[in-house]
Amino acid sequence: METKIKKITPDSLREAKNIIESGGVVAIPTETVYGLGGSAFDDTAVQKIFEIKGRPNDNPLIAHVHRDYDLSKLVDFQPSYAKKLREAFPVGPLTLVYPSRGKVSPRVSCGLDTLAVRVPSHEGAQAFLRAVEIPIVAPSANLSRHVSPTSARHVLDDFDGKIPLILDGGECVGGIESTVCDCTGETPVILRAGLITREMIADVVGDCKVYEPKLERGERVKSPGILYKHYSPRCQTLLFAADDIENAALTYQRETLGGKRVAVLCEERWLTLFETLGAKTLNLGKTRSEIAARLYKRLREAENICELLIAIEPTEKDGVMVGVLNRLQKACLSEDIKR
Ligand code: TXA
Ligand code: MG
Repeated sequence: METKIKKITPDSLREAKNIIESGGVVAIPTETVYGLGGSAFDDTAVQKIFEIKGRPNDNPLIAHVHRDYDLSKLVDFQPSYAKKLREAFPVGPLTLVYPSRGKVSPRVSCGLDTLAVRVPSHEGAQAFLRAVEIPIVAPSANLSRHVSPTSARHVLDDFDGKIPLILDGGECVGGIESTVCDCTGETPVILRAGLITREMIADVVGDCKVYEPKLERGERVKSPGILYKHYSPRCQTLLFAADDIENAALTYQRETLGGKRVAVLCEERWLTLFETLGAKTLNLGKTRSEIAARLYKRLREAENICELLIAIEPTEKDGVMVGVLNRLQKACLSEDIKR
């Protein structure tokens, strides 16, 4: 199969709609990362998404809808705080998990009685969702465990020959996936940190908790995706805290002397230090939004230029950086967390 990359035009949208209607999958841009989309109502399309990605079959998918879609078609109950959140963030990098009406393919939620729904703000994504009309499930358009894609080129690198069409909506401005927030209990609970922070949610609804799975009790985790090694470049990785920078520099020198091709991923503030040592550096930038937007792009660059990536954790750890740090730590995990 030839994989075409097309800018978003009435023609390419029509082509995408045809593919979706015949049970196929299409890669689409969003403001966070690119997604691999298929009809939420079509068992075969949903199954195809799991197969193409090599995704573990207990990791549920997010349904994406356009901004005027009537949510009550899909979800059973919306607590008042969820309605407030939707008013505050009508579109954007926030995914809300509701009790499901069971209208979509049972494969979407992998046996959970909930459904995750997101309304992306990317204009290309909106145009696509309007064209198809139906809810589209779309996990990040990368092979399972690999780094998430923030450009059409990244999607092609993982899925060339495996999917018919990539809609090219430019580079993603957000850079890390949406915040996933459970809305099935008394108060919202963040299951995956992202660009909409706990503080932003608490400002709107007064309270917001963060889910921490109690793995040792053997209960089923609420958001299985959080257990897996994820976002990982295809090179060895070593992660250092920002206050352990001397150790990172020593490790760089030792590994380089040992004959390894090493690169260093860090905030702008550490560039000179590592460049003085002769290191190849991958600059995450200065501001929080720059760091979030560049993270995956730099991790994908790393696998092309080095055998070992020395990654330095960003200095700031709050707000959006909670999500950034969580992705970076998982990217550098050597294996899945055991249950
Ligand atoms: O920004 C995003 O959310 C991107 C773009 C493409 O929209 N999508 C994305 O999808 O990141 P994916 O499949 O890579 O991650 C979905 C996350 C997983 O951590 C999954 O466990 C969680 O959402 N999730 C999905 N449905 C859920 C549900 N019913 N209950 C709890 N967690 C759910
Ligand atoms: Mg993903």
